[in-house]
Amino acid sequence: MDRYAVIGNPVSHSLSPAIHLRFARQLGEPIEYTALLAPLDDFAGEARRFFDGGGRGANVTLPFKIDAFRFAGHATQRAWLAGAANFLALEGDGIRADNTDGIGLVADLVENLGVRLEGSRILIVGAGGAARGVIAPLLEAGPLRMVIANRTAERARELAQRFAAKGSVEAVALGAIPKEEFDLVLNATSTSTHGQQLALPAHVLRAGALAYDLAYGPGAASFLSLARAQGMRASDGLGMLVEQAAESFRLWRGKRPATAEILAELRSRSA
Ligand code: ATR
Repeated sequence: MDRYAVIGNPVSHSLSPAIHLRFARQLGEPIEYTALLAPLDDFAGEARRFFDGGGRGANVTLPFKIDAFRFAGHATQRAWLAGAANFLALEGDGIRADNTDGIGLVADLVENLGVRLEGSRILIVGAGGAARGVIAPLLEAGPLRMVIANRTAERARELAQRFAAKGSVEAVALGAIPKEEFDLVLNATSTSTHGQQLALPAHVLRAGALAYDLAYGPGAASFLSLARAQGMRASDGLGMLVEQAAESFRLWRGKRPATAEILAELRSRSA
């Protein structure tokens, strides 16, 4: 059996083993997929042990996405742009890094939530690693406008410059978000992961628009309930998790699993 794993810290809560084993059953692929806890100061040691021991590919979760990018011998363009990787694959005698988070987000928005990204106005709140991972695929979907708002405005400006070749992006401070109608408001800050409330100017949360939190589970609840109270549609990032896993599976095995059933099952379990 070919061996795959998710590497993180903490990692015992990860849904990735259950998702990938479900994909493997669906497509009749003989794989093993486990969760590996890496020491906070030694991602590379754990990853090396895994690949030296015959591992074929790994997903990488918090807090190791930057370590994973550095660990790999080469990387795709989207991983370079993100500066982070959630995907590693053995290729020849080297390790390739990729980032399937952004494509997973786009798949969830377009296919599961019926969002039309082409011609849309997108507000991304946050300018850390999570934001960096999703900007390029969103720009490739052809939005009319993208604004990145961050508590520290300078970090938003750095990101806007980094992605300038992919499309036009405006960077602002959190308190200076322009008074215009956004179709999609993405919470890419770490507030939900840390159980904090994200404070946004009132005009941002507009009835009819979609609020999306890149995090999933109980942490995302406060942002989503704030958005729903303003009449917005709201979604957490569970669909993004499943879709980034499906894209990872496709890259490793050459077959893309269907996602609707497992996503519905995970949603009913967490309801
Ligand atoms: P991640 O990899 O999860 O993106 P990160 O790189 O540390 O983590 O980035 C965290 C992001 O959440 C940053 O954009 C951060 O804003 P700053 O750049 O100003 O630090 C944002 N963030 C964290 N806590 C926040 C809060 N209470 N309000 C608004 N933004 C917050």
